[in-house]
Amino acid sequence: MAFTPDFIDDVRSRITLSAVIGKRVKLTRKGRRHSGLCPFHNEKTPSFSVNDDEGYYYCFGCGAGGDAISYLRESEGLDFTEAVKRLAEMAGVPIPDQRPIDPVKQKRRQSVMEALEAASHFYRQQLETDAAGAARRYLAQRGLSAATLADFQIGYAPRQGLRAHLLARGFDEETLVTAGLCGRSDRDNSLYDYFRDRIIYPICNRQGAVIAFGARAMGDAMPKYLNSPDGPTFAKKAVLYGWGQARERVRRNLPLLVVEGYMDVIAVSAAHAGAALAPLGTALTEQQIALVWKLHDEPVLCFDGDKAGQQAALRAIERILPVLEPGKSVRIAVMPTGKDPDDILADEGVEAFKAIIASAASLTEALWTQMAQQYNVGDPAGRTAFFQQLRDLVKTISHTQTRQSYGDEIEYRIAGLRAQLRSGGASAGREPMMRPARRPQTGARMRLVAMLALLTAHPSRIADHYEELSLADFAQLGGDKRLEDAKKEILDAVIRDADLDGDALRHHLQETGHSQILSECFGNDMVSRLGAPPQSLANEKVDRLIADLMARLPK
Ligand code: UTP
Ligand code: MN
Repeated sequence: MAFTPDFIDDVRSRITLSAVIGKRVKLTRKGRRHSGLCPFHNEKTPSFSVNDDEGYYYCFGCGAGGDAISYLRESEGLDFTEAVKRLAEMAGVPIPDQRPIDPVKQKRRQSVMEALEAASHFYRQQLETDAAGAARRYLAQRGLSAATLADFQIGYAPRQGLRAHLLARGFDEETLVTAGLCGRSDRDNSLYDYFRDRIIYPICNRQGAVIAFGARAMGDAMPKYLNSPDGPTFAKKAVLYGWGQARERVRRNLPLLVVEGYMDVIAVSAAHAGAALAPLGTALTEQQIALVWKLHDEPVLCFDGDKAGQQAALRAIERILPVLEPGKSVRIAVMPTGKDPDDILADEGVEAFKAIIASAASLTEALWTQMAQQYNVGDPAGRTAFFQQLRDLVKTISHTQTRQSYGDEIEYRIAGLRAQLRSGGASAGREPMMRPARRPQTGARMRLVAMLALLTAHPSRIADHYEELSLADFAQLGGDKRLEDAKKEILDAVIRDADLDGDALRHHLQETGHSQILSECFGNDMVSRLGAPPQSLANEKVDRLIADLMARLPK
C-alpha cells in the first residue's frame, strides 16, 4: 500500500500548509508566516507558527512541529496513508492505483523496457553502417558533432532489420508491438518496423532508461517526425525530451530553457547555451510544468516570434498561472520571427542567442504584452476589456499569496498606464503598452541607458570613446546585465561594420534580442529627458551629452 516518494513530494508541494491548518485554526498572516492559537495545547496568546514556504508548522509553547502530513495525523488521528490521501484530495492530485503490483504486468513492462534498450543500441550501431551514409551526411550538415551524437545517443533506423534483430535476441512479437517498435500489417498480420529510414532520437525517462523514440525523416517523407505511440512505459504528455542532459547542465548553473523541438534541445545543449527540454510535439502540459520546476525555479520558455508562437506563449501563460507556487515562475523569450533556437544558433551564433535569453520577459511582463496584442488598447472599450481579462487571469492563480502579489503588480501596471494616458493624450496608442516593466531607475542606470541611446542613434560617435566604453562594466555600474550585453553588442557591431548607421544598428539590436533595452532607449522617458528623440539630436549636442556622460562614469 505504499505511495512513491515522488507522489508524496508532489502532493506536499501542491498544498499550502496554512490553507490546510486554517480550516480548523484561525491564522493571521505576519510577513511570510501565519500564526494562531496552537491546536495541540491550550493557550491564550498565539505561539503557533506556520511557514508556507517551508511547509512546516511549529509551536513555540509546546514544541509540536511537523509538515502537513504530521499535522493531519496529530490533529485528526489519521494514519500516514489516510493523511496523504486527504491531502491529495485537497490538492486535486489523482490518487495512484493502490492495488498491489500485478506480477504479470510487471514482467511485460520489463520486457518492453529491455526491447526499447536493445532497439536503441541497434539504431546507434546502424548509424555506423554503409547503409547510413546519407544519415551521417544529414547529421553532419545539421552541425552535429560525434560528441553530440553520443551524448544524445542519436541513431539511424534502416528500412528494415530491427524486427529480425530483436526476434533473434528472444523478444516475442507482442513485446515489439507493445513497445511501439513494430506494427502489424493489415493484410497478413505480419510485423513491420515502425521507424524506417529515419534519424532516431531516443527519449528517456528521468532515470535515464529509453522509453520511446522520436524519428525524423531526412527528405520530404511525411510526417517529418514520427514518435512512438503511448504505451505502458511512455505517456507523451508526461515526458520531456532531454532530461538527463538538462539536469547535468542545470547542475553547472546554466539557465534552463524550454524549447519546441528535438533539434532545439540538441543545439542548445551542444552549444552550452543552456540546459534544454522540449515537450513532444504538444503544448506544455501541467504535468510537464511541474517537472520543469523540479530542475529549475525559473525556466525560460522560448517561443517563435510569429503569430502562432505568440498564441502558444499566451496558452502557456494561461496554463502556468493556476499552478504557480511560491518561488516558482517562468520567463518568456520570444525568438525573431520564423526562427527556432536551432536556427538562431546556426545562423547568428551562441552570443546572439544568449542575448535573446538574457532579455526574456518576466511572467507578468509577458502576460501584459502578449495580452495587449489581443486587444485594441488605444480605445477605451478595448482597454477596459484588456484590464478585465488580465484581472480574470490573475484570479486563476490558486496559491493565495502568489495571486495577491501578481494582482498587485498588474494593478500597478494598470495604474501606471492610466496615469500615462492622463498626462499625455498623445501617448495613448499601443506603444506605451509594450514598454517593459518600469524598473527602479537609479541615476546611474538612467545615464547608462541614455548613453546607449545616443551611441545607437549615432554610431559614428563610438570610435572616439571605444576604449573607455569597452572597459566600463555597464552590468555593474547600472545593476543590470542587459545594459552590458547591449553595450557589447553595439561595440562588436561597429567593429564588424564601420559604416553601420543608426537605423541599421537599431535593427541589429532588435534582431539580437535587445529589444527591451532598445525600448527604454527610444521610449518617451528618454525623449523627454534628452529633449528630443535620440536620433534627431544635432551632432554638437550629441557630442556634448556623450562627453558629459563619459565624465560621469566612475573610473
Ligand atoms: P518543427 O516542425 O518546428 O521541427 O516541430 P523542428 O523541431 O524545428 O525540427 P527540424 O529542425 O526541422 O528538424 C517541432 C516539434 O514538433 C514535433 C517534434 O517534437 C518537433 O521537434 N513534431 C513536428 C512532430 O511530432 N511531428 C511532426 O511531423 C512535426
Ligand atoms: Mn528546427
